Amino acid sequence: MWTVLITGGSGFIGSHIARSLVRAGYNVVIYDVVVNGKLIKDIRNDVVIVQGDVTDNTLLLETIRKYKVNAIMHYAALLSAATEKNPYQGFKVNFEGTWNVFNTAKTLGVKAIIFASSAAVYGSNIPEVVREDTYTVPETLYGISKQYGEMLGLWFYRRYSIDFAAFRYGSVIGPGRRNGGFSAYSTLIIQKAAQGENYVINVSEDTCLPIIYVKDAANLAIVALENISRLKSRIYNVAGLTPSPTAREIVNVVNKYVKNVYMEFKPDPLAVEVVKSWPKNMDCSRLERELNWRPRYSDLNLLVEDFINEVKANPEMFHI
Ligand SMILES: NC(=O)c1ccc[n+]([C@@H]2O[C@H](COP(=O)([O-])OP(=O)(O)OC[C@H]3O[C@@H](n4cnc5c(N)ncnc54)[C@H](O)[C@@H]3O)[C@@H](O)[C@H]2O)c1
Repeated sequence: MWTVLITGGSGFIGSHIARSLVRAGYNVVIYDVVVNGKLIKDIRNDVVIVQGDVTDNTLLLETIRKYKVNAIMHYAALLSAATEKNPYQGFKVNFEGTWNVFNTAKTLGVKAIIFASSAAVYGSNIPEVVREDTYTVPETLYGISKQYGEMLGLWFYRRYSIDFAAFRYGSVIGPGRRNGGFSAYSTLIIQKAAQGENYVINVSEDTCLPIIYVKDAANLAIVALENISRLKSRIYNVAGLTPSPTAREIVNVVNKYVKNVYMEFKPDPLAVEVVKSWPKNMDCSRLERELNWRPRYSDLNLLVEDFINEVKANPEMFHI
């Protein structure tokens, strides 16, 4: 049985993974520098919570040893906008912290590591649909740090036989995701409507980015862990909806479920420029071939309905 330490485990994706792991009967240790009690309200008595920094090698080592951790899901990071704003802090957390996680895992014989990578590893001037072997020339420090994490994971796998998988997410959407970051519009269109609030959308109507629902992302992390020793490529594009919906299409579906909220497009030139440089669609056939995994929420109607229901049913956790 796996005992899984999730770095950044009280963040948006980490908390959803923790919930899915708890429901499936795994032992879970949440390791986070700022513990967000709200997002883990329902599971806080079912997990071990350690407030700690991934750059704190001593505490990380003690925690892994004390709780007999044998798998790590490394989701702690400074996100893209914060990394560009504070590059040195981004370097500390995303490079040094990631080294610490892998190196400590090696020291204590951890068997498997799953790493949250990003579509930010692809630079601009890429094909309309990117595959994992499309060249990666990341243009942001955040993207470079994700490429570094992938390469480091492959190196620890080859050199020390630590099983490894990395997921290149486009935009992970779902209840409780915080504002911030240029890809947040797709979550906020649904989140704000579920809260009965009007929303001004800062990208153009035709903007589209690869999207995956956070419940699918959490399920995939568990399926990957269960099959980690037989994975071949180890680095995977991850998207749930094919082709990616435009911002206008998301609004249209939301309007079917929520009336009386006002949504208006007011594109911000910087946001438009940044999102235009990201992949619009990702070929995820490698994931399907190697893991036989398909997203449950591959239909936008199903996704939006579930998202809205979650926010309405659990305002204490998911209202932002
Ligand atoms: N949300 C997305 O669309 C998306 C897309 C691609 C990749 N990712 C990656 O997925 C991971 C999780 O993202 P998220 O959206 O849940 O973000 P989030 O900000 O909600 O979660 C990140 C968590 O990491 C924690 N953290 C930050 N610095 C830390 C440190 N030094 N030590 C320990 N914990 C630290 C934060 O407190 C936070 O709880 C990140 O690695 C991110 O780069 C997210």
